[in-house]
Amino acid sequence: MLNELSILRPDDWHVHLREGALLPITVPASARYFNRCVVMPNLQQPLTTAKQIANYAKEIRQHIPQGSKFQPLLTMYLTDTSEVAELEEALKLDDFFGVKCYPCGVTTNSKAGVRDLNNCNAILEKMQQAGVPLLVHGESSETKDDVFDREKIFINDSLVKVRQQFPELKITLEHISSKEAAAYVRDSGPHMAATITPQHLWFNRNDLLGDNLKPHLYCKPILKREEDRQALCSLVKEGFPRVFLGSDSAPHRRQDKENSCGCAGVFSAPYLLEIITQIFDELGALDKLNDFVAVNGANFYGYPLTSDKITLKRQAIEIPDNVGQQHNEQLVPLGGGTSINWSVDE
Ligand code: DOR
Ligand code: ZN
Repeated sequence: MLNELSILRPDDWHVHLREGALLPITVPASARYFNRCVVMPNLQQPLTTAKQIANYAKEIRQHIPQGSKFQPLLTMYLTDTSEVAELEEALKLDDFFGVKCYPCGVTTNSKAGVRDLNNCNAILEKMQQAGVPLLVHGESSETKDDVFDREKIFINDSLVKVRQQFPELKITLEHISSKEAAAYVRDSGPHMAATITPQHLWFNRNDLLGDNLKPHLYCKPILKREEDRQALCSLVKEGFPRVFLGSDSAPHRRQDKENSCGCAGVFSAPYLLEIITQIFDELGALDKLNDFVAVNGANFYGYPLTSDKITLKRQAIEIPDNVGQQHNEQLVPLGGGTSINWSVDE
């Protein structure tokens, strides 16, 4: 049995750091073990302009602990009226990364999102030409569509067309959750990748809904059947090179999760590396961990690999059920109140 494991310092290719009072909690949580993080733009006022992105970057950087080499990578929020000139401005910023597409209404702060991707052709053309990746929340925005089918409907109705129109555009289908998405990414060419979250590898909809309702496992896309979870695990276990960690860590305050109208999002950042290691251990895939968390994403996006290493030990830790205390917040992390078999050697 392997009791110690050394990997490259990991990257999280999809995280919500939020704003205001949450930044002093979220930024250090991600900076603790991560090298780079792709930061999502769905703030209360979505980041649609280069100026907004630059201001947000400044705010984030104020909360990076001293001595940390943590690098937040920034994104722009796509709308039906996004202009090429604005993207060109954003491309001048340090650490600008890509453009995020939220179909209108699919998740938190997505009301300003895209209603019709055909309205975005000019900017997609520019992105394809400049090598800027399109990061997609892949769910249909039709409220009549069954919530468990929205990912596959989005792939069939929207993603297939975008890929035909822009075959060289780098696209990441974020937080894939279904066997259809797993198959789609597997069968697509070198410009199509996917991120996977810990919760979609760890749990299925029975865990969320089958016994009592577990609001802290509620996220978009919603957890699906066991066969869907297994399709994601298969990609990971075989070391498929175009899937990588994107935690979708998305904190909401406890009262907004444990609520009659609860928010979608799992706050996975605080113990992300420990949990992902545990999941890979349970899958018998510890030999694939390094590539999934530190290599595949960098290779897909054309970023350099880090030389920093980090050591994991088979040593149990208790995950607290609130990580906001010091800041007078109530934030329940993924795995809160349970114990994990792996810890990071700091
Ligand atoms: O569950 C989710 N929460 N999924 C998303 O795509 C967004 C996120 C959030 O920002 O709360
Ligand atoms: Zn997200």
